[in-house]
Amino acid sequence: MIEFVQTTKRYGKSNKLALDQLNLSVPNRCVYGFLGPNGAGKTTAIRMLTGALRPTSGTVKVNGIDVTEDPVAAKRLIGFVPDTQEMYERLTGWEYLNFMADIFGVNEEDRRARADRYLATFEMTEAAGSRIQSYSRGMKQKIAVIGALIHDPEVWVLDEPMVGLDPRAAFLLKEEMRRQADAGKTVFFSTHVLEVAEKLCDRVGIISHGKLIAEGTPEELQHSAGDESLEQVFLEMTGGDPAEETSK
Ligand SMILES: Nc1ncnc2c1ncn2[C@@H]1O[C@H](COP(=O)(O)OP(=O)(O)OP(=O)(O)O)[C@@H](O)[C@H]1O
Ligand SMILES: [Mg+2]
Repeated sequence: MIEFVQTTKRYGKSNKLALDQLNLSVPNRCVYGFLGPNGAGKTTAIRMLTGALRPTSGTVKVNGIDVTEDPVAAKRLIGFVPDTQEMYERLTGWEYLNFMADIFGVNEEDRRARADRYLATFEMTEAAGSRIQSYSRGMKQKIAVIGALIHDPEVWVLDEPMVGLDPRAAFLLKEEMRRQADAGKTVFFSTHVLEVAEKLCDRVGIISHGKLIAEGTPEELQHSAGDESLEQVFLEMTGGDPAEETSK
């Protein structure tokens, strides 16, 4: 479970308000899609959730644990796939997975079983022996996804995970996100792919200029806007130039 309570972030000297009193609760068994135009505050919220950034005010809790007060305990519960690919290029896929497993203190048996399972799921078993520097963009994304699952996290957080994935890899990832939620986990991800949000998510939230402007099941959002597609709802709610907002 994830709880944002009045979570606010201002950046730097300019005091730029990036996230404005976000109140949002994501239960277990839920795939939650976090939507919003470029610069809306999605990554900012995610970085506070993963403990990389401190809220200016308000709190973020993971399974009841305050991320600021007890960051180590909170981080143990989280598997995170960031939107950047800053990886350990010199490691092989296997070495990277072992490195992640070491960080989280995963025993030999579990790490082996999970690595085997997820490498097979994402069709990376053969590539695992090669160095990450030889991987394509999509392969790097997939090994990051597997690395985030190696400690069997209660909460899986992904920042624009579909970027760079081919249709098959994206499909496999969506399937795994659903499986994790069905197994009782919480899955929270940002995306610009509204079709994915519409089909995959149990609930979605739309943020714009740091404020949550809509929240509910995809069906609820569509009904509230007169049974339009989620894309249409998004474009109407967030305004501006559609081409600019969906370009990413
Ligand atoms: N380190 C920073 N210093 C100052 N301002 C920042 C910083 N990081 C983000 N911002 C600002 O905060 C706002 C929210 O940015 P954020 O990265 O959270 O948006 P986003 O919703 O993830 O956008 P995108 O869809 O492009 O990934 C933007 O106006 C951005 O310019
Ligand atoms: Mg972002």
